[in-house]
Amino acid sequence: MAKDTVSVTDNVTGKTIELPIYHGTLGPGAVDIGKFFREFGYVTFDPGFVSTASCRSSITYIDGEKGQLLYRGYPIEQLAEKSSFLEVAYLMLHSELPSQDEQQAFLEKITRHTMINESLKSFYQGFNHDAHPMAIMVGVVGSLSAFYHDSTDIRNPEHREIAAHRLIAKMPTIAAACYKHSIGEPFIYPQNALSYCGNLLNMMFSMPCESYEVDPVAQKALDMIFILHADHEQNASTSTIRLAGSSAANPFACVASGIAALWGPAHGGANEAVLHMLDEIGDVKNIPKFLEKAKDKEDPFRLMGFGHRIYKNFDPRATLIRKMCHEVLSKLGDENDPLFELALKLEEIALQDDYFKQRQLYPNVDFYSGIIYKVLGIPTNMFTVMFAIARTVGWVAQWMEMIGDPDQRIARPRQLYEGPVMRDYVEFSKRS
Ligand code: CMC
Repeated sequence: MAKDTVSVTDNVTGKTIELPIYHGTLGPGAVDIGKFFREFGYVTFDPGFVSTASCRSSITYIDGEKGQLLYRGYPIEQLAEKSSFLEVAYLMLHSELPSQDEQQAFLEKITRHTMINESLKSFYQGFNHDAHPMAIMVGVVGSLSAFYHDSTDIRNPEHREIAAHRLIAKMPTIAAACYKHSIGEPFIYPQNALSYCGNLLNMMFSMPCESYEVDPVAQKALDMIFILHADHEQNASTSTIRLAGSSAANPFACVASGIAALWGPAHGGANEAVLHMLDEIGDVKNIPKFLEKAKDKEDPFRLMGFGHRIYKNFDPRATLIRKMCHEVLSKLGDENDPLFELALKLEEIALQDDYFKQRQLYPNVDFYSGIIYKVLGIPTNMFTVMFAIARTVGWVAQWMEMIGDPDQRIARPRQLYEGPVMRDYVEFSKRS
């Protein structure tokens, strides 16, 4: 299959082997190191997967130098402007944009699965009202496999598809219930006449005793943020899902593992951390002090919402979100919102700073998304939950791609062992 090869010589033994290089449609080629251990007796070492492709994929492509993000080949800018979140979901799952009939059928399927089992609701009662909504979400999503036995046979393509639809459809219902539980209000049933994001807003903010109208600006903003968050190739949570799924675990359990990985502040938890950071900075005059803290290697403080493993020029999602932030604030808030002004100033000052320039650290998708969420009335501890709703589309698409891959095997990384060499057990009575 591969025409190109790379020769690798072990300078200790003088042995040389040829390793095939595979070329995808875009991006760097990949050296197949599958026979490395067999031939040389060494494993390869790459903590953080900096140079390691863990799979083949046809879903999402990122060019970090150009600041380019493509879903199934379509630029994120075009999708954000012209598409909708559920159309993007269809694209992710089925590789192509839907025809009008396909779109209609897909919307009906997703709409039919928005309810959650009534017994599932009692799970929420086990959590204190002050539990973090991500903690609740990990538990509730993991428990879905106990309710939907008819979609956990991962070798059955129909089961896989129903599971994917159920996860995408139920996430907003589960997320809104997390929020309602935290504020002690009754859960609101999904309204299937509403759009995906309109339904989420309704379930979060309406009450049985009052009428509530979904704000079209809020609905559109949320839809666009969800498009931007829908997938990001082999990031930490998606890789977690692929790793969990490689053992043939059911998709609900896999997505729960992805939610757990997403929660960390280096990943999806960054949107919540950005707001806490901006609150802590408090005022433009304090920016230099906090930049110094971010640069100080002895200080654990980092500029949250800054930096990315792949983007080394700009994150195209951040550019779109910044623009959306202006729009949302001008329509629903105040364009001179002090928090937004502080964020803009922080970005401006950091981008002129040598430390950030040399390390190619730019605002990422999480830097401005929290400001929009705040204007929409979404509480800070729900920010990462919003991210999880959107990323579920990418997670299930990547999981389905993996299960359908004939080369798929259980993921089982090796290690460089640095522990004690073999030694004999010392009887308890002989230890001082
Ligand atoms: N503030 C200060 N210094 C930073 C930052 C930052 N936010 N990010 C990276 N650096 C420094 C880092 O200390 C290192 O410096 P040196 O070369 O002197 O040791 C250099 O830049 C390279 O950083 P790294 O940690 O090796 O880069 P990474 O690719 O392992 O980490 C990252 C990427 C996103 C985890 C990291 O930039 C970070 O922690 N950023 C803040 C958290 C954040 O915003 N996360 C959201 C990421 S985008 C959305 C998502 O994934 O969900």
